[in-house]
Amino acid sequence: MKFILKILSTVRDFLFLAARHWVSAIGVALASISAISFLSILALELSGEARGNYMGIISYLILPTLFVIGLALIPIGIRLLRKREKAGQPTGFPVLNFNDPRLRSIALLVIGLTVVNLMIVSTATFKGLEVMHSDAFCGGTCHNVMQPEAVAHLNTTHENVYCVDCHIGEGASHFAKAKLRGATQMVQFLVGDYSRPVPQPTEVPNRICVRCHATERFSENRLHIRRMFGDQEKAVEKYTIYWMLVGGVRDGQWHGVHKHNGLKVRYLADPKRRTITDIEVTRPDGSTDKFTAKDTQAPAGAQWFEMGCTDCHSRPAHRFSKPESVVNAALATGTIDKDLPFIGREAVAVLKTTYPSREEAQKAIPATLQASYAKLTPELDAQGKAKVAAAGKVLAEEWAQNNFPDMKVTWGTYVDFLQHDPGCYRCHDKKHANAKGEVVQQKCTGACHDTIATEEEKPEALDVLFP
Ligand code: HEC
Ligand code: HEC
Ligand code: HEC
Ligand code: HEC
Repeated sequence: MKFILKILSTVRDFLFLAARHWVSAIGVALASISAISFLSILALELSGEARGNYMGIISYLILPTLFVIGLALIPIGIRLLRKREKAGQPTGFPVLNFNDPRLRSIALLVIGLTVVNLMIVSTATFKGLEVMHSDAFCGGTCHNVMQPEAVAHLNTTHENVYCVDCHIGEGASHFAKAKLRGATQMVQFLVGDYSRPVPQPTEVPNRICVRCHATERFSENRLHIRRMFGDQEKAVEKYTIYWMLVGGVRDGQWHGVHKHNGLKVRYLADPKRRTITDIEVTRPDGSTDKFTAKDTQAPAGAQWFEMGCTDCHSRPAHRFSKPESVVNAALATGTIDKDLPFIGREAVAVLKTTYPSREEAQKAIPATLQASYAKLTPELDAQGKAKVAAAGKVLAEEWAQNNFPDMKVTWGTYVDFLQHDPGCYRCHDKKHANAKGEVVQQKCTGACHDTIATEEEKPEALDVLFP
């Protein structure tokens, strides 16, 4: 009891001292309020209470900053006070008389509080870094800036790979650079000065990918089954089936598409890497070659690039779709009824229409589809109308996965190079030739993919695959 009273009186002495100058008084208030808020939020979170993204920023970035500012103000205020008290006399450090038991207690209190403060600040720093590392910080805090990538991220195999795992390099200097870049971006964001859409390409070097994927690893052929329904009155399901010969190293030899990972390729292209005029290759055996597209003009601002994973995998973690693919997938899974007449054509048309905002599109897409069907098939019964309404809802959702008017992102804004054009044909177009007139060949079958069926209604292979 006596001990508690002693602590209380020391706290009172300390507060009395601090309160005598307004700067330290504000410091005490600021530090106490932010420490109490911080500890309460921490307790809430530890108890499993759900926490929003903004909460993370307030609790782990803003509150600790206020806390540290508050702490810094206290000694400044006390020093100003001493200065005022000793006005006229030469200022120096106050004479501390540790024989005074009051001063001893205050010193002990200050040491005790410092330990607690250090604990709070280090917890906050740790948590703050965690917040900045999270996808919510990258994709959610900047609102619409990263919204397209954040939304698309959830639809890919890399859903559980953090944004920063690919977008921040390894090591402390990279980390610091990225955080500095982040701070500049934050300012640009606040003053609304950023390009819409965020430009592609963004440099993501191979060494980021190979932390998780070995370059030479051999992958077995991958089977692809694509289902298409066309845009005629009665949807007809057609299949395209092929093996992707992914490859890699097997028996000491490079195979398949990943034969590329054994090549060193440099190329001269426009900053968007779309038009390539010159290609230099070094093969695994050490031989080299140069290919030039003589008829193609060197594009403005052309620069040399080192070919890497992202020259094919340009959308590994945030892939956007095409209206036709979205509709085919919905018809294949049955979320849109394929018995509706001209559904392929109508659905694609409604997806390709421009809507001013995401909110507007959610209302306009179902309404537009309903209006089209009211004209096209006025005789549709209640059940048919319900199918149209359901299709409208699905299309509105799919549209929202791919369209972000605020950021000027729509179908096709971002290019996936994992396709013929623009993709492999940027080089494999039979136009890039070496001195001997040999071209970068376009041998698809046997090198990249083996086709089993092309837009067939009842391919035999299906009976083999799904007997
Ligand atoms: C598996 C690695 C990976 C992850 C995870 C990843 N990205 Fe990317 N991101 C890339 C690559 C590769 C590019 C470069 C595309 C190019 O160069 O054409 C890119 C490009 C971007 C761009 C530039 C615009 C564009 O779309 O091309 C933005 C913005 C972006 N990413 C944001 C994010 C956000 C936000 C997250 C998390 C929600 C994220 N990324 C997660 C690999 C990744
Ligand atoms: C932090 C680890 C990590 C990093 C970094 C990473 N990936 Fe992945 N990647 C994964 C995981 C996990 C999977 C899913 C594997 C699975 O499902 O079998 C995956 C899957 C893939 C796939 C197959 C996806 C598909 O469905 O076709 C490709 C292609 C791929 N990654 C490319 C890349 C590229 C390119 C980069 C660099 C820009 C990269 N990854 C960086 C972890 C990572
Ligand atoms: C020349 C183009 C090209 C380059 C360069 C390339 N890839 Fe691929 N990769 C492909 C293709 C094509 C596939 C098959 C995609 C499919 O089946 O949809 C593939 C598939 C993959 C897969 C999935 C394999 C599986 O077993 O499922 C991973 C992982 C992958 N690549 C990682 C990488 C990494 C990492 C690099 C860079 C070191 C890289 N790729 C370079 C074209 C390329
Ligand atoms: C930047 C230019 C460039 C791009 C883009 C590119 N390639 Fe290549 N590719 C080359 C060069 C150069 C060679 C080596 C030619 C040689 O050795 O004479 C090559 C070789 C290959 C080979 C090996 C052929 C063989 O049997 O020796 C395959 C397979 C291949 N590429 C597939 C692809 C695929 C698939 C894509 C797209 C996903 C692609 N490439 C994109 C430049 C490119």
